[in-house]
Amino acid sequence: MANEALIDCLNEILKHEWTGVAQYSQASFIIEGLWREVYASKFEGDAKESFRHAKLIGDKIAALGGVPVATRNEIKQSKDLREVLEFSLAFEAKAVEMYTKALELAEPHRSLVVFLEDILLEEQEGVDEYTKLLRDTPAAHASMSGEPVRKSS
Ligand SMILES: [Fe+2]
Repeated sequence: MANEALIDCLNEILKHEWTGVAQYSQASFIIEGLWREVYASKFEGDAKESFRHAKLIGDKIAALGGVPVATRNEIKQSKDLREVLEFSLAFEAKAVEMYTKALELAEPHRSLVVFLEDILLEEQEGVDEYTKLLRDTPAAHASMSGEPVRKSS
């Protein structure tokens, strides 16, 4: 069952999840201004979710007879909230893509498919959430810049 391509694919995912732990933690550390109140804990929660996924995938790689990686990719960081949200959407979309690819390799092992599908659902929720946060309505735009919404004269 433990084929090399699958373990390699899971290790790429693990690397991505470790990247998420660092990237979201950093975002929560450095966010400043009014929106810190909301987004510091939002990003911390996402770092914890990445850690939870890393733990699941690392344990699974070991169970399959592989060696889990302990490295990560470069993180993206910015003090501009909108940019951080864009990085986050790209991060979650990449995770969806990676778990979808792993699912192809996991067939026909049913329990592994279910295991990966559960995580894939959470990654898709991340995509949906960041897509909504980035939706460009005038009110959202004004509030993101920290300026009050002005009435048009
Ligand atoms: Fe994840």
